[in-house]
This record gives sequence, structure tokens and C-alpha cells, in this order.
Amino acid sequence: MAKTKSTFFCQNCGAQYAKWQGQCNSCKEWNTIAEEVIQKAEKVSWKSSENTSKRVAKPQRISEISTQAEARLNTKNNELNRVLGGGLVPGSLTLLGGEPGIGKSTLMLQIALQLPYKTLYVSGEESAQQIKMRAERIQPISENCFILTETKTQNIFRNIAEIEPDIVVIDSIQTLHTDAIESTAGSISQIRETAAELIKYAKETATPVILIGHITKDGNIAGPKILEHMVDTVLQFEGDRNHIYRILRANKNRFGSTNEIGIYEMQGSGLREVSNPSEILISKNEEDLSGTAISATLEGMRPLMIEIQALVSSAVYGTPQRSATGYNAKRLNMILAVLEKRAGFKLGTKDVFLNVTGGITVDDPAIDLAVVAAVLSSNIDIAIDKGLCFAAEVGLAGEVRPVTRVEQRILEAEKLGFTSIVISKYCKIPKNNFHINIIKVAKVHDVVHHLFG
Ligand code: TYD
Ligand code: MG
Repeated sequence: MAKTKSTFFCQNCGAQYAKWQGQCNSCKEWNTIAEEVIQKAEKVSWKSSENTSKRVAKPQRISEISTQAEARLNTKNNELNRVLGGGLVPGSLTLLGGEPGIGKSTLMLQIALQLPYKTLYVSGEESAQQIKMRAERIQPISENCFILTETKTQNIFRNIAEIEPDIVVIDSIQTLHTDAIESTAGSISQIRETAAELIKYAKETATPVILIGHITKDGNIAGPKILEHMVDTVLQFEGDRNHIYRILRANKNRFGSTNEIGIYEMQGSGLREVSNPSEILISKNEEDLSGTAISATLEGMRPLMIEIQALVSSAVYGTPQRSATGYNAKRLNMILAVLEKRAGFKLGTKDVFLNVTGGITVDDPAIDLAVVAAVLSSNIDIAIDKGLCFAAEVGLAGEVRPVTRVEQRILEAEKLGFTSIVISKYCKIPKNNFHINIIKVAKVHDVVHHLFG
């Protein structure tokens, strides 16, 4: 019998302690330290071939290392491929995090069903019947997809050795447990150990493994931070559950950029890829409505035309209300102050509500000018021309500032049929061969002049 050893782990951040204490020194949370028994029984993890453990790595000249471009596995899902940087790399570990009910299992099941390779979908959360029912709703049933409801890694590896899948999906890493350690599933030491076993398996067989991970209440992936260091790619699936759009982004990617995003629409029959997001984010109202303006923003590397709606009305109560959805509320206050001081609009006694349509949150400062336009349009109740869009930041002095990659934004606006785009006078556009009319402004005041004469 191996010697029983136990250690104390903070269940919040994964810090390790020799004895119990009330507060974690590293994350300062109270009552998160719990004892976990780590019993090193004989390890029956992924069988490592004899010679790999005996083989000693030798240094190689960097010039002599062969670099055939790794053949990536095409996931048949363009949005996911884009976020991964071109597909799944053989032997890579991908961690997919997101709030409960956002659609992680749906996305992965959908991928598993549409792949032309042999896929193994291991679920510790749902029964095989439940998975089948879901699969029937979202995709034609594939002969290549195997479902395993198992949580013990030793049993999973036994099945893997039998089926020899080309891709493995684990739903979720928090439900797995290994015999090598005696603590409960989901504890820090279990997550660390099971992830290490899966990494070993992935690297030795060059099979891509996708792990689904739960997140904590503050939005981090549950479990030790080290999990994120261990895997090659960390993806985050996010969105507002009350809206149909979901955004997939890479927080870490060893094989590509983290700037790309994938956009999906949750439908009754699973997640649909949204390949042209700008079209859906702009409402197709026939009538002219005051208080809406279109902004040419960038989400990562991707240009995105987004509609901003503002409602300005006289405050009923003493203190005017200001509220913003999808836009920083402090920034809205700043913009209102700039309008008051630099453009002479008296908004101090008005309620101002701002909404970025589609349920998405925008950090791009280039949205500022569209916010200004929407607020002013609502204030004087005159609609903005439908062919007009905006891409500029607004400074405290009321100056209209240039934004990054303005050419890309202009091209997107042009592609979607806008006739004019308002940008900063200080933007440098190398060649002016655009068909769209480019309006350059230097101050917020000039914008007012342009819009409403
Ligand atoms: P799920 O993939 O179970 O979320 P997660 O694994 O991230 O917890 O997604 C569940 C939600 O998705 C559920 O609330 C219903 C919705 N949904 C649809 O709208 N359409 C569908 O076709 C499916 C399968 C789910
Ligand atoms: Mg799930």
C-alpha cells in the first residue's frame, strides 16, 4: 500500500499549502482551502511506450529541425477554424470555457458529428440518450461519432485504445477522475492530474483533444490556473444568454493569433455559423428612425458594422438617468460631458439610454463617434442618413481622433453598401481609391454641422 499523502489546496486559485489556514495567501479568498488526499497508487495512465521514457532528447541545431507545416485537421466549421488559426493541430489540447447553458456541449457535439474523422465524445455530464436526442436535433447522425459516458480516465483510455479515435472531446474536465489520486472529481489535484494524463495521451498519439471546462462566478476557468498553462489553446464561448448570438474567442493560442473571433447564432437546430456578421447586426428598418447610428468597428481582426441606438428624453425625476448596454457607462458620461462643453448641447437635464444592438459588448474606441451621432440624433429627433456610418474616437477636447486600421473599416462599409463614412481628419489613408465618400472631420462640432446642417 502506497503511503497516503495529503495536501491543502485553495479551491479558488489552486495554491498549495502544507497545512490548513483560513485565508489563501495568494488570492486572499476566505474558506477556500480544503484538504485533498494524493495517494500515489500505481499509475495506470495512458500507457507510455517503453522507449519514450528511455529515450533521451538530444539538442538539435535549429536550422536542422524539420518544419513541415503541421497538417491541421479541418473542423468543417469555418468560425472555429478561424479562431484556432486554421484548424486543429494534431496532438494539441484545446480548452473551451464558458458559462453554463451558453452552448459548449452543443458546439462540440456539432463538430464531432460533422467531422469526417472518427471522433470520440466523452461525456460525464449527460447520459448517452440525452446526447443522442440532442444530436438528432442538430445534425444528421454520423457513423464516425462515438459517445462514451464515463468519468474515470483509466476506463476512458482503455476505450480509446480500442476505438483509436482521431479526435477526442471531453465534456467536461471537471467531471473526470483518475485512480492515481484519491480526491473527489473537480478538485484541484484531480483536474491537474487528469489534464496531465490527457496531455500525455495527446502528445504521444498526435490526437487533438478538446476539453470543455466550467467557469467560476468571476468568469475564470474553474480549477487551477496551471490548467491554462498546460493546454495549447484556451477558447472562451461567450454571449448574452437572452440573445441568440454567441462569440467564440481565443484567450491563448500557441498555434495562431488571439485576435480572431467566431460568431454563431443559437437556433432551434443548434449553432449556425454567422459568416457575415455585419449584415445581421444592422436592423433593416425601412422608415427613418432618429437615434440610431452605424459604427464601423473591429472585433479582433474582423471588421464589424454595429448599430448604436440612443434615446434622449427629458428627465422625469430630479437626477437624470444614464444607462448603457454593450458600451462603457463611464465613457458615455464622458461623451455627454464633451457634447455639453464643446458642442453646446444641454444634456444635463436629459435621461440618456444607449444600446449596442445584437447583445454584444464593444471595447473598440472607434464606436465613440457613432455614439455621439446617435445621442445628437435622438436629442433633436432627426434621423441620420441611412447611407452614413462612423469610425472615430472622441477626445476630451472634443477632437475627433484617428483609429487603427481605418482602411479595413472603410472597405467593410463600402462592401455593405454605405455611401459615406465619417472619420478623423488626421487619419492617414495611403491611397484614396475608395468608391465610398469619405468625410473627414476634426471636431465634434464639425460632425454636428455635417449631420444636421
Ligand atoms: P449546452 O450546449 O447544453 O450548454 P453548455 O454545455 O455550455 O452548458 O446548451 C444549452 C442551451 O442551448 C440550452 O439552454 C438550449 C440551447 N439550445 C438551443 O437553443 N438549440 C439547440 O439546438 C440546442 C441543442 C440547445
Ligand atoms: Mg454542457
